Amino acid sequence: MTQTLTIRRPDDWHVHLRDGALLKGVAPHTARQFARAIVMPNLNPPMTDMAGVAAYRARIVEAVGQGSDFAPLMTLYLTDDTDPDEVARGHAAGVFVAAKLYPAHATTGSAHGVTDIARIYPVLERMAEIGMPLLIHGEVTDADVDIFDREAVFIARTLTRLIADLPGLRVVFEHITTAEAADFVRDAGPNVAATITPQHLHINRNAMLVGGIRPHAYCLPVAKREHHRQALRTLATSGFDRVFLGTDTAPHAQHLKEAACGCAGLFNAPFALESYATVFEEEGALDRFEAFASRNGPAFYRLPVNTQTVTLVREPVTVPASYDCNGTTIVPFHAGETLNWRFAG
Ligand code: NCD
Ligand code: ZN
Repeated sequence: MTQTLTIRRPDDWHVHLRDGALLKGVAPHTARQFARAIVMPNLNPPMTDMAGVAAYRARIVEAVGQGSDFAPLMTLYLTDDTDPDEVARGHAAGVFVAAKLYPAHATTGSAHGVTDIARIYPVLERMAEIGMPLLIHGEVTDADVDIFDREAVFIARTLTRLIADLPGLRVVFEHITTAEAADFVRDAGPNVAATITPQHLHINRNAMLVGGIRPHAYCLPVAKREHHRQALRTLATSGFDRVFLGTDTAPHAQHLKEAACGCAGLFNAPFALESYATVFEEEGALDRFEAFASRNGPAFYRLPVNTQTVTLVREPVTVPASYDCNGTTIVPFHAGETLNWRFAG
């Protein structure tokens, strides 16, 4: 039985690092395991221009400290009013690696998102021309669509059409949660990829709702039925090369999750690799873990693979009940559970 697993140092293609005191408390957890991370722009106010994104990047570099070589890869938050020239300028200058599409009111920090994708077609056409990836939160927000159906309906109503209209646009379908999304990405062309979170590989909706309501299992898109989880595990561990690691680590203070209207988002950064490795081992696919964690993402983003390596050791690790993140108490994903792998650096 494999006792150690050494792979190219991975990257995390979807993180929320927040800002201010909380940024200082959470960013080191991501920087400890990952060389680079795609940083989401859903701050308050959102990151909608070059100057704001460049300043946020500098705050992240400061938060992880001088000893770290962690490289944040920044994203622009698209709104109805985004200027195609600003997008192209920021991309050419290396300030934005990608742009993020939040349908307005789909999730945390999306109030300024796009109300109708048709409104940003000039931006998307420009992005297709310059080869800049569009990162999509793929859920419709219509009040009449059940929350468990919102991803599948987004594929049917919005994504299929977008990809037909702009086949040259490079799209990452973020944090997919359904069999429909797994099928869609598998059948799409080379310009479409997806990220998958550890939580959507580990839990189905029962984890959130059976035996009491469990706010620390609540994130968006919400976990679905078991057959969807199985489809995601199959895709992630199949060796398919347009799917990669994106934790969607999304820390919220304990009291904001354990509330009458609790926030969406899980804090999974401290044990991200251990969590994914456990899934790959359960699926008998440890030999495919490096591709998912360290190779497929750079290939899609047209970036070099990291030169360093990291090692995981087969040893039980128990996840703490909570973390003090620079003054904010946060309950991590897998709190109190034991995972089979330990990150040895
Ligand atoms: C994210 C957050 O808290 O910023 N929440 C979440 O449940 N994933 C936003 C997002 O990625 O949808
Ligand atoms: Zn996210």
